Amino acid sequence: MLAQIRYLLSTMPIAIAGLVVSSVAAGLAEAGVLAILAEAALLIAKHQSHIATSVGPVRLDASIGTLLAFGIGLAFARLALGVITSFIPAWISTSMQATLRSDLFDAFSRASWDVQSRDREGHFQELITNHINGATQAYQVAAQLITAFLTFFVLVISAVALSPFAALGIILVAGSLAAVLRPLGSLGQRRAAALSQGWLAYAGGVNEAVRLAEEAHVFGAEEHQRVRLDDFIASFRRPNLHVNWLATLVSSVYQGLIYLLLVVSLLILYAAAPANLGSLGVVVLMLVRSGSYGQTVQSAIQMLRQSQPYVDRLKAAERSYRESAAPVGAIPLERLKTLELRNVSFSYDRTAPALKHLNMEVTGGETIGVVGPSGAGKSTLVQILLGLRAPTSGDYLINGSSASEYTRESWRRAFAYVPQEPRLLHASVAENIRFFRDISAESVQRAAIDAGIHDDIISWSGGYDTIVGPRADAISGGQQQRICLARALAADPDVLILDEPTSALDPLAEQVIQNSLTRLRSNLTLFIVAHRMSTLEICERVLVIVDGEIEAFGSVADLLGADGYYRAALTASLTPEATLAKLASRE
Ligand SMILES: Nc1ncnc2c1ncn2[C@@H]1O[C@H](COP(=O)(O)OP(=O)(O)O)[C@@H](O)[C@H]1O
Ligand SMILES: [Mg+2]
Repeated sequence: MLAQIRYLLSTMPIAIAGLVVSSVAAGLAEAGVLAILAEAALLIAKHQSHIATSVGPVRLDASIGTLLAFGIGLAFARLALGVITSFIPAWISTSMQATLRSDLFDAFSRASWDVQSRDREGHFQELITNHINGATQAYQVAAQLITAFLTFFVLVISAVALSPFAALGIILVAGSLAAVLRPLGSLGQRRAAALSQGWLAYAGGVNEAVRLAEEAHVFGAEEHQRVRLDDFIASFRRPNLHVNWLATLVSSVYQGLIYLLLVVSLLILYAAAPANLGSLGVVVLMLVRSGSYGQTVQSAIQMLRQSQPYVDRLKAAERSYRESAAPVGAIPLERLKTLELRNVSFSYDRTAPALKHLNMEVTGGETIGVVGPSGAGKSTLVQILLGLRAPTSGDYLINGSSASEYTRESWRRAFAYVPQEPRLLHASVAENIRFFRDISAESVQRAAIDAGIHDDIISWSGGYDTIVGPRADAISGGQQQRICLARALAADPDVLILDEPTSALDPLAEQVIQNSLTRLRSNLTLFIVAHRMSTLEICERVLVIVDGEIEAFGSVADLLGADGYYRAALTASLTPEATLAKLASRE
């Protein structure tokens, strides 16, 4: 629980020092005001206009006017200090919120693709919004706790000066109340942990419902989705109720008990029969006020414990993101001369390996087709080639050095990729093609022409400034795919990897792209994961992957000559006459 306070001390020592000083000063000012109030009230009651007494160690000898003027001065000081002590926690929580948000996103964006892709749907969004708000509360409450505790402490110390007996009473009372209320703190923390879990599950459900809204209409699943989300909501209703209730319960219980104990201490004071009535009034006032600061301390402790699960979860997420960040290599990647997989295997967690003992070597400038049944491991291989995932075992070598030894910048300049599913920014076509890189308008347009999307773009009213995006309805799947191809071509990559680039294209668009690729392939090392066998015609060699293993790797002619997936797939996709013609034409 003190971790937040320690963290604040180390990251913003000046703000905390300011808070400590102003809280102590506020406590002293308040003790002074209370003392003057009690003494002045007594003077007025006794129809006197001059005071000559001692309040604890302080000797008072003044007219009531001076006393009240001093009281007004102290009250103003208390007011000003109150402005400061409320501002600093607000400032701390605002800057903590900004820091937590940007740190978490920083960690996420540096995390490996492996870890990012394993995040459950909606989790990160939930963490960076709701959970950060929960954690921010912890830091704000920690700051408030400092103020409340110090004010409490100063008032108690002042009371000690006046009446050690009474002050001892309040310390005992506050201490035993804290001990009594401790279990509520642990309970609140456990309930808050359950709640944080509930929020994450809920966020996943909401995200999924939004992503599948179209399917929900078609298959009539809206009712089911409503029920499912209601179930999520119902599942964290109880922890939510408990968390909300406990936060206020603690201060109510505290308040109820402290009054009881105050009356008892007054009784004890009465029995001890103090000589100085003025002092007694001051002591009672201070006890009442320290009781209410004690209450603030107690509810701050409760809130702090209830925010703890959010802080913990955020820390854990940030740690796992940061730990997954790939080490940065130091060699700049020049042109690709050779690309080699040596005994490369890859497993996703807890599943059978997706790739098994791959060995292959490709020379710079080659055009390589990749085919295989669905689920064979083609997309996994693509991610290995792109350096997005590291082999579980074996080596991936570029120009004879391990792929991980190259600098990230040079690697990104060299490699480009078109994913199986096109994904667009909600931004203009030009910005989508540029994708945050420094690319001239001419290069953007040339890439669009090569990708066969230029004519479509200029037919749109906004041209290259037309806003497109995931839910922009003017864009078909094939158009999205070609924009992604233009994105890949725009920075003149050295290696281009296409994962089933023509799966959403009509035959004409496919032909346009095939022609572009044929023209561009002399300057590129090109990998095409092919969906249609016709795409393979421009490939010098074809890699056949079946069940995570290389079944064959050779020219189209070689593959035609052997039994296996390639011939079977080709036969299935062609008429018998065409197959015979193909077979006859080999050599
Ligand atoms: N993110 C993932 N987590 C776990 N298993 C995966 C993941 N992606 C793919 N797989 C599994 O790895 C195997 C290969 O998948 P993939 O490379 O996508 O095949 P392909 O692209 O050839 O259709 C499949 O058995 C698939 O279920
Ligand atoms: Mg795939």
